[in-house]
Amino acid sequence: MAPTLLSSPLQGFTDFRFRNAFNHYFGGIDTYYAPYIRLQGKLVIKNSYQLDIAPENNSTLEVIPQVITNDPDEFIFVAKYVRSLGYKELNWNLGCPYPMVTKSGMGSGLICQPARIDDILERAHNETDILVSMKMRMGYENAEEILDTFLILDKYPLKNIAIHARIGKQLYKGPVDLDAFEKCISGTKHKLYYNGDITSVPAFKAIEERFPQIDHFMIGRGLIADPFLPSRIKKNTTEYPKDRWDIFLEFHNTIYQEYDAYLSGPTPIRMKMLGFWSYFSETTSNPQKVLKAIKKAQTPEKYRAAVNQIIRKEKEIQDN
Ligand SMILES: Cc1cc2nc3c(=O)[nH]c(=O)nc-3n(C[C@H](O)[C@H](O)[C@H](O)COP(=O)(O)O)c2cc1C
Repeated sequence: MAPTLLSSPLQGFTDFRFRNAFNHYFGGIDTYYAPYIRLQGKLVIKNSYQLDIAPENNSTLEVIPQVITNDPDEFIFVAKYVRSLGYKELNWNLGCPYPMVTKSGMGSGLICQPARIDDILERAHNETDILVSMKMRMGYENAEEILDTFLILDKYPLKNIAIHARIGKQLYKGPVDLDAFEKCISGTKHKLYYNGDITSVPAFKAIEERFPQIDHFMIGRGLIADPFLPSRIKKNTTEYPKDRWDIFLEFHNTIYQEYDAYLSGPTPIRMKMLGFWSYFSETTSNPQKVLKAIKKAQTPEKYRAAVNQIIRKEKEIQDN
């Protein structure tokens, strides 16, 4: 059976503009997680989050909204909000590793607090009809934290638990810990999804072979770096389409136009695209050179010329 592939959210990257263009030009993703909604001390949902999950902005996509919080009232407020938009499920982020988040007991900083998790899940299940799913790391300090938390999670009818096979303390450094992920499989009754470092078709196959029980896989950075990755995994091929770079350029131009219309002034769009190119460049023939050329292009005209030059070069290399 073909694996189910989910787009793992990246705040600042995989918003509705990216998701719609990605789905149109590349496909291969079954469901997109929206980057997390975070409340700022008040029960108010910021306009940019509202836009991101508005049904009219996601009309051709399967989307699951996500929240990051350690507060039951906030969780319930966001759950009711997404229900009012027609979503059945809310994903809860217990994975974010950044100190500003973890120090306030959120993201992966919450994994070691099962009583608090219990409180939030109990209230969410008593006071709403939302279907809850989890996205978490295996712990903050060590990969055993999740095993205690499973005892609480097993009390609730969660849809699934997606596990990024790292601990918070690692941030994004160091390898994923597949032995610890294996222990998770026998540690809970819930369905697990695998997440972490799926960056190529062979990398995907290695994970699939090692964990035959897993049939849902989440791809985050790998999907931005190589937007053809999900469709190539689905087709079980390492080949790219012949018009790989033409399709990529159309995709690029689409998101450029959308972000340019949304962001004001030349600097924000330049920074936005530079962020994307820090991933896009990874699958070009010369990542460092490509990123340098993008960094050097300080005006929209120079940027356009740099992108065209990069694509021309990659096409030449592909054709030879
Ligand atoms: C810049 C950045 C932003 C992220 N934002 C989110 C987020 O909003 N919600 C979330 O659950 N994970 C977030 N993540 C984590 C990714 O979804 C993913 O779990 C992680 O990168 C590991 O998967 P990958 O190796 O396939 O990228 C973010 C990661 C990065 C690098």
